[in-house]
Amino acid sequence: MADNTTQTEEYVQLKLVINEESNKVLFAESGKDFVDILCSFLTMPLGTIARLLQKDSNMGQITIGCLNSLYQSVVDLDKRYLWTDSIKELLLKPKNSSEDYCSTLKLNIDDSQPTEYFICASNYFSSDSSGYWFVNSVATFVITDDLINIIPNSAAYTTFSLLKNLGIITSSTKEMAVNVTKEKVVDLLKCALVSKSPLTDVFLGKKPSIERSRFLTCNAENSSTIQITIQLVIRKSEGNILFAHGDQDFADLLLSFLTFPLGGIVRKLGEYSSMGSIGGLYKSIAESVENQYFISEEAKNRLIDPLLASEYKSCSSILPIKEQCLNYYGYYQSESYRYRSNDPFFITDKHYKDGGRYEEMRLHNNKNPIKEGFVKGPRTYLATDDLVIGPASPISASLLINRLQIPVDDLKEKNVTIGMKECLSILNAALTSTSALTNGLGHLLSEVMEEK
Ligand SMILES: *[C@@H]1O[C@H](CO)[C@@H](O)[C@H](O)[C@H]1NC(C)=O
Ligand SMILES: *[C@@H]1O[C@H](CO)[C@@H](O)[C@H](O)[C@H]1NC(C)=O
Ligand SMILES: *[C@@H]1O[C@H](CO)[C@@H](O)[C@H](O)[C@H]1NC(C)=O
Ligand SMILES: *[C@@H]1O[C@H](CO)[C@@H](O)[C@H](O)[C@H]1NC(C)=O
Repeated sequence: MADNTTQTEEYVQLKLVINEESNKVLFAESGKDFVDILCSFLTMPLGTIARLLQKDSNMGQITIGCLNSLYQSVVDLDKRYLWTDSIKELLLKPKNSSEDYCSTLKLNIDDSQPTEYFICASNYFSSDSSGYWFVNSVATFVITDDLINIIPNSAAYTTFSLLKNLGIITSSTKEMAVNVTKEKVVDLLKCALVSKSPLTDVFLGKKPSIERSRFLTCNAENSSTIQITIQLVIRKSEGNILFAHGDQDFADLLLSFLTFPLGGIVRKLGEYSSMGSIGGLYKSIAESVENQYFISEEAKNRLIDPLLASEYKSCSSILPIKEQCLNYYGYYQSESYRYRSNDPFFITDKHYKDGGRYEEMRLHNNKNPIKEGFVKGPRTYLATDDLVIGPASPISASLLINRLQIPVDDLKEKNVTIGMKECLSILNAALTSTSALTNGLGHLLSEVMEEK
């Protein structure tokens, strides 16, 4: 295929106010396009993020906690362990629930296929011609380096008070214009996930100053919707979990993390969940006043309370499902009450209760809801501490123990039942460390530690 990206590469413009002395971005000023792109990060499912992190942009590849190994497990998983062929794709290129909002993004770094709508399984059209955007198009925005302040500049005083807070304009303050390309957006996502100064990192070419993650235990709401019993294999001398065995529910639970949108995760884990500046971005949006900032309350909710795409019905015990509100209706003109292939028709996003001269026809889409979960059962699956997941066998476990060269009398087995609190705790640990099980389930190990 011809590469037409080099000559007419799309970009959005951004104005940076930098301090030359400290080589830092004080803040950026932008129009709606750039802010919409930042906002769209919150709608991205973890699987999409894992895929983008592996992309080679200026920044190179980066890893976040166990996300890469979890993602790679799906890449490596033999299809015969999955219920249907499409599941792999739905985990590796997960759907977001804001397709209608994201279709207007000026620069879209997610290349997954938009939903297509079919008429009588022959003609089809895709939905990318119509859509909404998140923020008001007239406003310009002021964005701080840590993404904690994104404020519409229309209120003239904001820039001024911001400058006062940030350490004033000095002789070393300079303005700089940049063209933000797709590649830079990928960099920005990478840096936003690990650093508290993503704008400086990306546009002043600094290495991201990677945050040492704090690991906090979650105070999850008490819900009895999840109860999964798993068997932990623990190394007594180190107090860490080597791996866990569980049935298909356990594997499904861990794999479902890939379908969770970032904003939904921050909401569940608390806005200070330690992922670079993502908590800051979330907070800034959550605390903003809708009507001077977003096109609607719905737009804001898509970011701070994004739900699962409707394909993932089976994962809804942790995050609820959102049926996409994007609807199309088709009408045809015919003598008969059945649509025939050369009858004139039209398609619209408006629903006419009474089509007048037209009959309504059914449109199908290519959505394929997952009903039974991802992996097949009954079968035992094994997950390592860093969330490499695969079918378990006596051989897989002993190979692992051999490879780690651990004497058998240093091992201990423990059966535990995990609920919502543990699930969120594993998720949090998976995003901030390479020991998702040990950190996520630490509170269940105390008695093992006392024994040693
Ligand atoms: C959301 O999903 C649609 C269709 O799958 C895709 O085209 C779009 O790029 C996605 N948006 C984001 C921000 O990833
Ligand atoms: C941005 O792109 C435009 C058009 O290609 C160009 O005229 C302008 O100089 C570029 N700005 C920067 C800062 O590179
Ligand atoms: C959680 O709920 C169960 C039953 O609904 C109850 O027995 C238990 O005490 C609750 N735990 C907490 C920490 O509230
Ligand atoms: C844990 O459960 C498994 C299967 O349910 C059982 O075979 C095993 O003996 C149990 N282990 C412990 C330590 O209770």
